Amino acid sequence: MIRNFCIIAHIDHGKSTLADRMLQLTGVVDERSMRAQYLDRMDIERERGITIKSQAVRMPWRVDGADYVLNMIDTPGHVDFTYEVSRSLAACEGAILLIDAAQGIEAQTLANLYLALEADLHIIPVLNKIDLPSAQPDKYAAEIAHLVGCEPSDVLRVSAKTGVGVKELLDLVVADVPAPVGDPKAPARALIFDSVYDTYRGVVTYVRVVDGELSHRERVLMMSTKATHETLEVGVISPEPIKSPALGVGEVGYLITGVKEVRQSRVGDTVTIASRPASKDLGGYRPPHPMVYAGLYPIDGADFPELREALDKLQLNDAALVYEPETSGALGFGFRVGFLGLLHMEIVRERLEREFNLDLISTAPNVVYRVVMEDGSEHIVTNPSEYPDGKIAEVHEPIVRATVLAPAEFIGTILELCQARRGEQLGMDYLSEDRVEIRYLLPLAEIVFDFFDALKSRTKGFASLDYDEAGEQISKLVKVDVLLHGEPVDAFSSIVHADAAYTYGVAMAKKLKELIPRQQFEVPIQAAIGSRVIARESVRALRKDVLAKCYGGDITRKRKLLEKQKEGKKRMKMVGRVEIPQEAFVAALSTG
Ligand code: GTP
Repeated sequence: MIRNFCIIAHIDHGKSTLADRMLQLTGVVDERSMRAQYLDRMDIERERGITIKSQAVRMPWRVDGADYVLNMIDTPGHVDFTYEVSRSLAACEGAILLIDAAQGIEAQTLANLYLALEADLHIIPVLNKIDLPSAQPDKYAAEIAHLVGCEPSDVLRVSAKTGVGVKELLDLVVADVPAPVGDPKAPARALIFDSVYDTYRGVVTYVRVVDGELSHRERVLMMSTKATHETLEVGVISPEPIKSPALGVGEVGYLITGVKEVRQSRVGDTVTIASRPASKDLGGYRPPHPMVYAGLYPIDGADFPELREALDKLQLNDAALVYEPETSGALGFGFRVGFLGLLHMEIVRERLEREFNLDLISTAPNVVYRVVMEDGSEHIVTNPSEYPDGKIAEVHEPIVRATVLAPAEFIGTILELCQARRGEQLGMDYLSEDRVEIRYLLPLAEIVFDFFDALKSRTKGFASLDYDEAGEQISKLVKVDVLLHGEPVDAFSSIVHADAAYTYGVAMAKKLKELIPRQQFEVPIQAAIGSRVIARESVRALRKDVLAKCYGGDITRKRKLLEKQKEGKKRMKMVGRVEIPQEAFVAALSTG
């Protein structure tokens, strides 16, 4: 008897702690080896030679003398990974909606709750951290009850920290979450809800079997790519991988086929048996779809081959990462890289720098534009410097449906921000007396940069944000170029709304003036639309040597100063004769 469930929670509401408590209570991890946040530990992954990073854990549980198997499936928590979240949810029949009793519902929880409801999951609402003195369980139970349509008394109260209520929660999972249904005799169909690259074993694919059976030493077929592979191992995680001869209807586990790239075993795809394939896949497969692009360039041009190698390696375990080489007049040889969103971009950059020891310059991220020319031809623009010249009929830009949750006192400032970002209000609801949900249609370009930061600072950190793709719209957009010393610097080109172009140009020129250090000569900065200059500034020539300040005497001070300069150097790039710091390339981010 199987129950498959996941936990939906906002960051820090206690998902990992609750998962730990469940592992402990079910005896999957004993007291002694229980370490805080067992499932989150990277070192454990390394020790075991397999990534167990909480994708799915099997736990035995006994209720009234009957034995059950509980499969807890992990869901990624960030807006960039909505599609991955939807696939994890599709592998479950129930979801625990976990909410911090001192914080209440956040936008991300809400977004994931909607996804869970769309997937027809049974929702178990739970308040966590009831041991906290600041907990307000009655208030938030009412809020949650209102949201999911139950009685406040139906909202379970637990403390993942002390363990209070967790046993009752597991019993409730058994009682309320529907058992999986499927046809054991039908051709096998299993949903891939996660796929992880492991250095020792190649790709480990996490599946939920819907119909039939997947077994060891069998040729399986990936229905979207039509590729076939032999299963070298199938098994379950509890909490270490345990081989098993087969996975049957409703079961959750992993399979290893020896493939080396996660692209060959994609999240959302359906696995079937090659010799007796299912006629129809499980549906819902969608190839990864980059939303944000940026140029990545090695600071030292000689590192280009290393950058290529590093990207090739990262792609082994990141199916959503796309890239192709590009050349920039200013930055030399690099790559245009596509990401699911800004967090994804940060993660990739950090990994390239940390794991591969590369020093990189990244250009300001931009969204993808579809430019239709008057002659009917179409350009997909992933790099602003490649914005077409000539007669443009219309420009389409991606838009998103954004949800902001915040205390009601901030409504004014939030609406103001959304309006300033070319938003179109879709609606507003009170979740409780003092908390609102505000929905807006916004151009993705307006929020990928600093929208979340602006929102946080306007609301003292109390607002949360989530967004979802909502197609595209036609907008009046123009390309603003930046010239240094009269030469256009392609890496500084940006696409902005025509009404904001002038303000943007002025702000950008000012910002660059601040950021570009004084050189031996004067550096004029201009912002232009086509041949029309809309703003100008200049960086005055340097007069004195920096060390001249130190009067020769204090050697430690001198050394410190030199070191500081060296630090600064690390992120400088020569563009023509001008030395430009990394910050300048993303300056556009903070001028908007
Ligand atoms: P992410 O992994 O960042 O998404 O967070 P999470 O949702 O997994 O939260 P996590 O379990 O890491 O808990 C966040 C913080 O809340 C930690 O400091 C926990 O110790 C604390 N915490 C979790 N549950 C409880 C609880 O029931 N009571 C109290 N007082 N603290 C808790």
